[in-house]
Amino acid sequence: MPLPRPDGRVRIVPSLLAADFGAIGQAVESVSEAADWVTVDVMDGHFVPNLSFGPDLVRAVRARSRIALDAHLMVERPAVFAPSFAQAGADAVVAHVEAADDPEAFFAVTRRHAAIGLAVKPRTPVDRLLPYLKAIDLALVMTVEPGFGGQNFLFDMLAKVRALREAIDRSGRPVWLMVDGGVNVATVQAAAEAGADALVAGSAVFGATHPAEAVRDLRSMAQDAFERGRKAVR
Ligand code: DX5
Repeated sequence: MPLPRPDGRVRIVPSLLAADFGAIGQAVESVSEAADWVTVDVMDGHFVPNLSFGPDLVRAVRARSRIALDAHLMVERPAVFAPSFAQAGADAVVAHVEAADDPEAFFAVTRRHAAIGLAVKPRTPVDRLLPYLKAIDLALVMTVEPGFGGQNFLFDMLAKVRALREAIDRSGRPVWLMVDGGVNVATVQAAAEAGADALVAGSAVFGATHPAEAVRDLRSMAQDAFERGRKAVR
């Protein structure tokens, strides 16, 4: 299933980093009625101090489910790795603007296979993303330092979310504004009200007794907050 296009309906995007790695297929199934998109956090041990998944994880999920899937490459060389994730079945591939590879090189090798996204770490100004808004389908503001799940949401990032929301609206282009890290019932409304319409949630979903219910609850809170935020800027 291709990545949905921004349609005013907020998405909660479960992160498989927080799922039971011994039962990834069941984890995807447990959220697939409530979520239409999951994210795979890819880490290379260089760009971030952790190692996680390769393209075969995407291939394994794709063999069992048509759910939309983005591969978030927290890696130094996204232009090297992006094609293998797209060919494994990722509908979108997200690189970091801070990576060693120039974003244009990443776009060139990915664009014909999948939707493309660009992400900024907490200490990177959102201005680094703005020149690429015309070329991407998704802009990702990290609300934790990338590398590990279960961290606390960085509320200082909300100013970046608001600035990016204004820039996306001005561009008139269908670009998702995604936040990732520390999203839960205590933080989801602030993120959505600031303008995020795709919110990654790992611990808050797969740490819950009923993951699908957790997705539905977060989505309902986020949708109301997102609409409040949109009214406030009109
Ligand atoms: C950090 C990861 C996490 C993960 C979500 O590199 O990208 O943000 O997806 O983690 P939680 O929702 O558990 O904070």
